[in-house]
Amino acid sequence: MDNTHIKLIDVSKTFDANTAKQVRAVKNVSLSVNRGEIYGIIGFSGAGKSTLVRLINLLERPSSGQVLINGEDLTLLPKKELLKRRKRIGMIFQHFNLMQSRTVEGNITFPLRGQKLSKTEIANRIDSLLKLVGLEDKRDSYPSQLSGGQKQRVGIARALANDPDIILCDEATSALDPQTTGDILSLLKQLNRELNITIVLITHQMSVVKEMCDRVAVMDDGVIIEEDSLYNIFSNSKHEITRKFIDTASNIRAAIELLKTNPSLLGVKKGDIVARIDFNEKSTKEAVISQLSRKHGINISIIFGNVETVGGLPLGTLLVAFKGDEDPVKNAIEDIKSSDIHLEVLDSAGIY
Ligand SMILES: Nc1ncnc2c1ncn2[C@@H]1O[C@H](COP(=O)(O)OP(=O)(O)OP(=O)(O)O)[C@@H](O)[C@H]1O
Ligand SMILES: [Mg+2]
Repeated sequence: MDNTHIKLIDVSKTFDANTAKQVRAVKNVSLSVNRGEIYGIIGFSGAGKSTLVRLINLLERPSSGQVLINGEDLTLLPKKELLKRRKRIGMIFQHFNLMQSRTVEGNITFPLRGQKLSKTEIANRIDSLLKLVGLEDKRDSYPSQLSGGQKQRVGIARALANDPDIILCDEATSALDPQTTGDILSLLKQLNRELNITIVLITHQMSVVKEMCDRVAVMDDGVIIEEDSLYNIFSNSKHEITRKFIDTASNIRAAIELLKTNPSLLGVKKGDIVARIDFNEKSTKEAVISQLSRKHGINISIIFGNVETVGGLPLGTLLVAFKGDEDPVKNAIEDIKSSDIHLEVLDSAGIY
């Protein structure tokens, strides 16, 4: 059975197409998201992420291309049908977008308006939504009386009001502190697991990606430059931009900065070759460093190390300094480069 839930085929969006201000926000993007998947989209500001997710529920109409949900092309539907389909796609935002003059209940019932539901049906629906997001005691509060995390829970309850099978999250946790972010992410994960809701999640925070996503797309300048499983994106990314994002989720940046400004603090001397070594699930367990050092008769000192699990698999980064004569060091580096392990020479004093 085809498990594809969302499919974009060669979709583009150009704003102000007929003017000098024309912006090509999304360019010929194709992607598929499977049912029940959590699909992450990362990219720098202005990359086109928000525009891309707004194309999924046709809040933005594509300039060209097809948007298929459950195999049905939304761009071909008459307005009334489109509105019906859109109700089944919930959306949550960074700034919650709640109506300040309505209570929690008022905000959550808003998407139910215009449907022929009895008072009891609405009351029951509210009860179960408030319970689901843990806000039973805030029913009559106004948004100004809620914390950021509580507001986002209202946002999630509102997004769930029409029983969606897709939720689009645009920076949903960016305005929240780490603890509250964790709570909201757990809630989203619970909805994904228990209700099998497909989630498309935009974020700047790689920690969020690491925690949540099954697959990840990296956007730059309107294009998806890379897409892969969570583990492959972290362990074997192809693009510089992706690496930059990944490094923001580890301490390696700080270690590299320190290396630039004060190498002696890390025990690095003139003549040492400093390299970054990334391990994946095949190589973390091997005693690579000690083997190399024995084989080539050199010293390899570890300056910085980080080993973690991503998607349940181990992933490691080491900064090392090769210390020894020129030729054996060169040979050791060639040895690693010809293996599965990713090595990048960061700094060398005179050899390369
Ligand atoms: N309604 C609009 N009219 C004109 N240009 C727009 C419109 N919406 C977005 N753009 C432009 O499209 C490009 C992509 O914007 P978009 O909001 O999709 O980026 P983003 O990746 O979500 O960025 P951020 O991370 O800052 O939210 C930007 O250059 C933006 O200025
Ligand atoms: Mg955006």
